[in-house]
Amino acid sequence: MEFQGKSFLAEKDFTQAELQYLIDLSQHLKKLKKQGIVHRYLEGKNIALLFEKTSTRTRAAFTVAAVDLGAHPEFLGANDIQLGKKESVEDTAKVLGSMFDGIEFRGSSQQVVEALAEHAGVPVWNGLTDEWHPTQMIADYLTIQESFGKVKGINLVYCGDGRNNVARSLLVTGAILGTNVRIVAPKSLHPDEALIALAQEYANQSGAKILVTDNVDEGVLHADVLYTDVWVSMGEEDKFAERIELLLPYQVNQAMIEKTQNEQVIFLHCLPAFHDVETNYGQEIQEKFGLSEMEVTDEVFRGKHGRQFEQAENRMHSIKAIMAATLGHLFIPNV
Ligand code: CP
Ligand code: NVA
Repeated sequence: MEFQGKSFLAEKDFTQAELQYLIDLSQHLKKLKKQGIVHRYLEGKNIALLFEKTSTRTRAAFTVAAVDLGAHPEFLGANDIQLGKKESVEDTAKVLGSMFDGIEFRGSSQQVVEALAEHAGVPVWNGLTDEWHPTQMIADYLTIQESFGKVKGINLVYCGDGRNNVARSLLVTGAILGTNVRIVAPKSLHPDEALIALAQEYANQSGAKILVTDNVDEGVLHADVLYTDVWVSMGEEDKFAERIELLLPYQVNQAMIEKTQNEQVIFLHCLPAFHDVETNYGQEIQEKFGLSEMEVTDEVFRGKHGRQFEQAENRMHSIKAIMAATLGHLFIPNV
């Protein structure tokens, strides 16, 4: 395994052993943090955090992880720097790469994060694009490993917009790791054929079973993990009406939990979630569509199956592992 100097742009660039290593390293670093054992493996390094889109977890996780590792994080928001407006991605990458030891980027375009990596000369980490959300995956599969002791052979069912970054990443990552992934979504929101074929290729090697279906009963039966994400991702806020109509039958609610026929099923959500009307969007949706919860009901969100806040905490431990592995040495985690 060779991590040093490597970027983390998409899960498909990594082998099963490498992704599993990052999950195990995250678990190890979590243990060190909980035990109060100092782990300043990146003392003196400087990290740039580029955010074209908003973020709570990813930004907080990179910031705290960098500080815990002894590195200095610098937040560079969309309105703070010249990128895209007065300066090309290539020139920005060259400048930032000459000053910083690693660069995180969140934005719409996968091409931008790839161009940054090509020209920066330092590791670049994808903090979410419209195509992939790879740092999220290490946290998600860590949460599954903590809950079930393993990721292989676990049935992960994603219900909702099957074309978005999180669904795409879950499918490919699970296929590589040997987790059985089912995408349960209306046909018009199924992942594209090329992506399903790619996942199937990985699944043939790992033994994972892949299913894409619009049938909720078939899709959720014997799920170990029920996962959902927002029905409308950042940048497509004009799509609420059509998504609500399409996705209401795919809402994660108590009836769906029962359809899994698995008392031990856990609920995951990358967050933020629309489970009540305590947000501006939530209130607008209630006024316009009479709906007080969207992709998950408040009952499930606050109920005994929910692991979404452990999952959110794991963003920090896993981002720490990704930075430590790509900027530091290869550790052998003792999980
Ligand atoms: N899950 C996630 O990426 O959250 P943020 O958008 O708050 O970073
Ligand atoms: N699919 C969501 C994920 C947010 C973490 C979005 O892109 O907005």
